[in-house]
Amino acid sequence: MKPLVMVTGGTGYIGSHTAVELIQEGFEVVIVDNLSNSKHEVLNGIEAITGVMPHFENFDLCDLKRLRKCSEKYPRLEAIVHFAALKAVGESVDIPLDYYHNNFESLINLLRIMGDYSIPNMVFSSSCTVYGQPDHLPVTENSPVKKASSPYGNTKRVSEEIIQDAIRANSTIRAISLRYFNPIGAHPSANIGELPLGVPLNLVPYLTQTVIGKREELRVFGNDYNTPDGTGIRDYIYVVDLARAHVIALKRLLESKNKKPYEVFNLGTGKGYSVMEIINTFEKATGEKVKFKIYPRRPGDIDAVYADTTLANKELGWKAETSLEQTLFTAWNWEKALNNKK
Ligand code: NAD
Ligand code: WQD
Repeated sequence: MKPLVMVTGGTGYIGSHTAVELIQEGFEVVIVDNLSNSKHEVLNGIEAITGVMPHFENFDLCDLKRLRKCSEKYPRLEAIVHFAALKAVGESVDIPLDYYHNNFESLINLLRIMGDYSIPNMVFSSSCTVYGQPDHLPVTENSPVKKASSPYGNTKRVSEEIIQDAIRANSTIRAISLRYFNPIGAHPSANIGELPLGVPLNLVPYLTQTVIGKREELRVFGNDYNTPDGTGIRDYIYVVDLARAHVIALKRLLESKNKKPYEVFNLGTGKGYSVMEIINTFEKATGEKVKFKIYPRRPGDIDAVYADTTLANKELGWKAETSLEQTLFTAWNWEKALNNKK
C-alpha cells in the first residue's frame, strides 16, 4: 500500500509541484486547500502530468473541527507536508492579524491532529526571510535568525519555534523545516506553474508578464546596492528541484534516517544572481527582449542573500540540478501557456 501524505496548500505554487513529485515517487496524496490563493484547475494539471487525480479537500485549516473530520476520513495518514500559508510580505504589513491568524492557527491545528491521530511527521515550508540581512554570506543554517522585518517573516520565525515546542511536549512527532530561498520556474510540461493573482510582486513573474505584454516594463528596484552591478542578488531555486527536496525530507522522516526529532535545511542553489543577470540570462534562454527601467530601491529589500547548501547536500543527498537558463526557460513557457488558455 502506498504511504498516504497530506499536502496542505497543495493547489498552490510549490505545493502543486511537490504533489507531482510525491505521486511520481509512489505516494498517495491528499491535498487540503481552501483555494484562497489558488485554483481548482491546478488539480487537472497535476493529473495531466502524473495520470493520478489526488484526493482533494477544500476547507480552511483554521477550522479544527473540519480538520479532525478530514483526519478521520484518512486514518492511514503518515505525514503532513505543510505549505498552506499567506505569503505576501507587503500585504502582511497591512493586515498583520489576518497573517498571524491564518499562519499560526492552521499550524497549531495541524500539530494538534498530529498528536491526536498519530500522524508523526511534518515537513514545514520555512523561508530564508528568517535570516533577514545576514552578516555573512553564504548563509548557513547556523546563521542567526533575525528579528523579522514583516509580520509574514515573523510567522515563519515563530512557526519554527511553535513546531519545536510541540515536539518537546510530544516525543511522537518529528519535523523538518525547509528554508527556501527564491523559488522560480514552472513544471517543464507547462501544466502547472505560479499563478500570481493581480500584479506580481516577485521578480520572475513580473518579468515574464512584461515580456508577454501584460506589463509595460520591468521595474528594476535599485542599481546602487553593494553588489558588482549594483542590483540586488538572490539565490533563485528551480521549483521542481525544490519539490524533489520535499520528497527526500519526507522519506528521511518516514524511514527514521535522522536521529534528531527536528531538523532545518536551507534549500537554494548556493549561488546568487543579480537582477541584471536574471534579465540577461532570460534573454539568452528565450531569445526575447526584456524592457526594463531602473527605479528607486523597494523599501525593505536587502543587497544580497544566498544559501550555503552544504548541509542539505551532505545530509539529504540533495542538490539543485537545473541551470538558471533552463529554469527561466520553463518560466517563459508557463507564461506563454497561461496566455494561450485565455
Ligand atoms: P501559494 O500561495 O501559491 O500556496 C499556498 C496555498 O495555501 C494556496 O493554494 C492557498 O490557497 C492555501 N492556503 C493558505 N491558507 C490556507 C488555509 N488556512 N487553509 C487551507 N489552505 C490555505 O504559495 P507558495 O508560493 O506555494 O508557498 C508555499 C509555502 O512556501 C508558504 O508557506 C510560503 O510561505 C512558503 N515560501 C514561499 C516562498 C515563495 O517565494 N513562493 C519562499 C519561501 C517560503
Ligand atoms: C528579488 C529581487 C528585488 C520585483 C521574496 C520575499 C521572501 C521570500 C521570497 C517567502 C530583489 C528585485 C523584484 C520587481 C525588481 N518569500 N525586483 N523588480 O524580495 O528576494 O523575496 O520572495 O518567504 O520572503 O520577500 O523576492 O522576487 O520580490 O525580488 O527589481 O518587479 O528582484 O528588488 O532584488 P525577494 P523578489
